Amino acid sequence: MLIQSCKNGAMETRSVRTYRLRGSRITRSQASALDRFWTTYGVEIPEGRLNLQELFPESKKIIMEIGFGMGEATALVGQDFPDDGFLAVEVHFPGVGKLMARIEELGLKNIRIMETDVHILFEEHLEDASLDGIHLFFPDPWPKKKHNKRRIVNAEFLSLIAPKIKPGGFIHIATDWVPYAEVIAEVFAASDLFSGGVVPRPDWRPLTRFEGQGITKDHQVTDLRYIRK
Ligand SMILES: C[S@@+](CC[C@H](N)C(=O)[O-])C[C@H]1O[C@@H](n2cnc3c(N)ncnc32)[C@H](O)[C@@H]1O
Repeated sequence: MLIQSCKNGAMETRSVRTYRLRGSRITRSQASALDRFWTTYGVEIPEGRLNLQELFPESKKIIMEIGFGMGEATALVGQDFPDDGFLAVEVHFPGVGKLMARIEELGLKNIRIMETDVHILFEEHLEDASLDGIHLFFPDPWPKKKHNKRRIVNAEFLSLIAPKIKPGGFIHIATDWVPYAEVIAEVFAASDLFSGGVVPRPDWRPLTRFEGQGITKDHQVTDLRYIRK
């Protein structure tokens, strides 16, 4: 299946979609937050490379969060780590408005938001060695065998992210789907670009609604952390 999206007039084409298609219905308050705050917190896809230093001039570290959903974890982590800058990326629009409203409410200065498929950023817009870390919290598990190919973590994903993470930088992943955790561990074990594995749940990672729903269904949550060699 070919997926096309139009950003800044340029047509992007991807062969496999890692996210669920949804309607673009947003609540009135989300739409209003988007209107009011996009110019402050939103980041347009640039023509060329994204200048992260310009976006986060005062930040000690720059961390990308992939697929922030409604942004509950993003806002709380941003609040707890004011010295770090967070580039929060989500392909679906409703969460963007919601997170902007939350950032404004908490008075945070260290979170910027992009609404796009993150592959496009890795493929075309990020400088090499520009990220200190990546947060990937509860990526869509795509549990049906015929959908497994849609999972975001695979060997191709590792080749895409590895050059963009500084040596010594990290990716922290949490999933509530054990078979996916096993695949993630296998994919990283097969790569000589990263070291790491399963870690205890860190205190700093907030509980999101998505994680709470998984726990209600007795899903076991696995945290995995890998360091870029
Ligand atoms: C299962 S939800 C988890 C949301 C959130 N991290 C949480 O823990 O509540 C996964 C999110 O990843 C987003 N996503 C999936 N593939 C993506 C991609 N290629 N680029 C950006 N976001 C993506 C989806 O739209 C969805 O909101």
